[in-house]
Order: sequence, then structure tokens, then C-alpha cells
Amino acid sequence: MIQTAVAPKNRKATAEPRSRESASPSENLLARFHEVRKFSARLAENLAPEDCVVQSMPEVSPTKWHLAHTTWFFETFILKKWVSGYRDAVPEYAYLFNSYYNAAGAMHRRDLRGLISRPTVEETKRFRASIDADVDALVASTGEKLFCEIEPILRLGIHHEQQHQELLVTDIKHVFAQNPLFPVFQKAKIENRNINIEAVKFVQFDEATVEIGHDGNGFSYDNEGPRHRALVLPFALANRLVTNAEYLEFMNDHGYARAEFWLSLGWTTVNEQNWRAPLYWIERDGEWWSFTLSGLRKVDPKEPITHLSYFEADAYANWAGARLPTEFEWERAAAKIDIEGNFVESERFHPAPLNHSPKDHELGQMFGDVWEWTRSSYSPYPGYRAEAGALGEYNGKFMCNQYVLRGGSCATSRTHVRKTYRNFFQPDKRWQFTGIRLARDLS
Ligand SMILES: [Fe+2]
Repeated sequence: MIQTAVAPKNRKATAEPRSRESASPSENLLARFHEVRKFSARLAENLAPEDCVVQSMPEVSPTKWHLAHTTWFFETFILKKWVSGYRDAVPEYAYLFNSYYNAAGAMHRRDLRGLISRPTVEETKRFRASIDADVDALVASTGEKLFCEIEPILRLGIHHEQQHQELLVTDIKHVFAQNPLFPVFQKAKIENRNINIEAVKFVQFDEATVEIGHDGNGFSYDNEGPRHRALVLPFALANRLVTNAEYLEFMNDHGYARAEFWLSLGWTTVNEQNWRAPLYWIERDGEWWSFTLSGLRKVDPKEPITHLSYFEADAYANWAGARLPTEFEWERAAAKIDIEGNFVESERFHPAPLNHSPKDHELGQMFGDVWEWTRSSYSPYPGYRAEAGALGEYNGKFMCNQYVLRGGSCATSRTHVRKTYRNFFQPDKRWQFTGIRLARDLS
């Protein structure tokens, strides 16, 4: 049933914000909403309008599209549902900025998003401001009972926006990488490079039946549940990520030319795509350079390897006499580790070398830096059912032909990721910050 709230265009000024402690739940959530919305604008603030419209491959969306689509999400799933007599800001945006929600109506083709010069970037910003004001007015005037209905969808919209912030970063990297001028998204921060990366060690885990999935406290996506028990056999997990130096050894050992390390589909892909190095690596005068969001620079041997497909991660693991972890092993190992690391908040936009030597049994770099490929297919947990309606399309319908990644990256928000978070991509995708942590069987 459509609930009655405020008339959308008769807004009252929102009350002066109070401190977070004395604020109501709705004021707190609105503050969070604005914080996250502003961060999207901040990520785009140094981009020229010309940067914001380019689509460099079908999987990449223009910055402008991300800014508009996240706004469409709030308009479609909150304002249209709970604002009585709501009139679309611009009715055609429903078609232009729907991504994949069939139950929400027809949509423009994903691979043609780069052809849409209108709305302009400025008009898109005005669309954002208008929807933000309507969300403000709705939530500020809503009673407790109705807020309880709106709250989970608003929270979902906030997390959805954070997902698109990560895509905005990885997509503009792909766009800039096509440009021979190698544009800089953000200047590199000066860092201490006197870091000694010790040889990798493996931390052992006994066989155990463990609880997997989200426990229901706080926000999670539906694909993180139901929480259930899983038997995890004895295994060992590397105490840090694989570095560029280690991956170079694989390359120098002709890893890309030796079929014995590769899955059949991976081997086909390597040859069809002519892969000889990670995405964004360029060889010049016998040296490897890498395009980063701070421009083109020499490959730093101490940084974690990134922009690898599942196929490359799996081939490297085979070459190294190891394997990729399962998502259950990873979640078990992460259970007692604080979520700290190099996330987007550091505004480094690139993985960082491990800055300390892990103590015995310590696992470094479990969160942030790069998403860690697991060997687990992205499939439903026992008892999972996607809910009915458009929002049931958020995760469930993608549970085919993809692999799970864990831990977040340097483009992920610290406040977005969880120990139970399941990211997923097809095995040939390389434009996300994806890397490797090795595992081994223990018999
Ligand atoms: Fe989306």
C-alpha cells in the first residue's frame, strides 16, 4: 500500500542538525545519507565534464551515469513509494538511469551509456540536489512507524551509493587508461618506501564447523545469509597478499605461455585477449610500468599485485604450488580480525605495501588494498531466497558464472565492507582492484 507522507514540492526547511548523540534515528540516518552523497560529489569534483561522459567498455559506466543512477535509486524505491502524489523530477530518467531492475520498468542499454550527452553533468547535479531535498523532506516529516518502513530501503540506497562510488573510481581509471596523456585522478601521496617485505608465511587452521554468513545485527545484503554452519577442513592461509615482485617471477617464468597452469577457459582467454601481464601494465625499455590513478609509474615490487582476473589468480596459485582459498576459509580466518586497512577513505586509490611484519599467526592485509579472489562460485547459501519485486533483483539473479571476492579494496569504503561481504565478478574481469592471497591444503 502506498503510504502518505509529504507533498514533494512543498518542502519545509529541515531542522538544525543536532549532535549525533542527541539526534533521533531518522536525523542520524539523514546525516549519514548526506555524508555518503557528498562523498560521491567529492570523488567527481576534480573531473572535467568531458571526463564524466566517456564509456571505455561495456562494463564501465560514465561518472555522470553513476551520479544519476544512484539518485534514480532513491527516487524510484523511496520517493515514488512513500511520497503521496510524487511527480518524477524528469520522467525520462526512469528509463535512462534504471540499471537492471526489470520489475522497475524498461531500461536503456548498458553498453550505450557513453552516448548519452544529455542530461549534462550540471543537470545531473541538479537532479541529485532535487532528490536529496525530497528525501530530506520525506524523512524529516515522517512519523516513527513510517520511518521503520523507509529506514531499511534508505540504508540499502546508501550502501548502493557506496558500491557505485567504488565503481566510479575503477571506471574512471579504465577511462583514463585509454588516454595517451595518462591523466591524473589524484596526485600520489608521498610515502615512506623503506619497507621490508618478508617471505610469505602460511597460518594453519584446524578442521572446524564454523558459522558462515551475517548474524542479522546491522545492515547486510541478502546474499550474506542465511547464516549457516559449514565444515571447513584443515587449511593454511598466506599471511599477506601476493606482491608485484612475486607475480613478476611468474611472468619471468613464462607463466602466461605455459598451458599447464591455466584453466581451459582461462587459457582460451589469455590467447584470445593476448594477455601477457596484469591490466594497466606497460613494458617500456625492458621495464614494467603501471597506470595508476596518480598517473603512469614504475611497478613497485612491494605493492600487492592487482587488476588480475580469476584466471590469472588461479594460474599464479598453481605455479606457486598453492591454490586460492574458499570463501568459507577466508571468512573463518577473518572472524577475529578488525576491519582495518587501506580503504577509499585513505584517498590513496591504490594498494599499499604491507607496512609491518606480521607476527606469528597474524594475517596482514585481510581488509582493503585489493579484493581477494576465492575459488568459491557465487551461489546461494542454503535456504536463500531472493525477495519478490525489484529489490529482489539486487543480488540473487547474478548467482551464475561468477566467483566470490572478499575483503574490500582501496576503492571500497571502510563503512561499506563486512567480514561476511560477498563481492562477485566473472572470471575474466580485471578492471576492479582484484588480487591474490594464497591458500594450501593441510592433510
Ligand atoms: Fe546500481
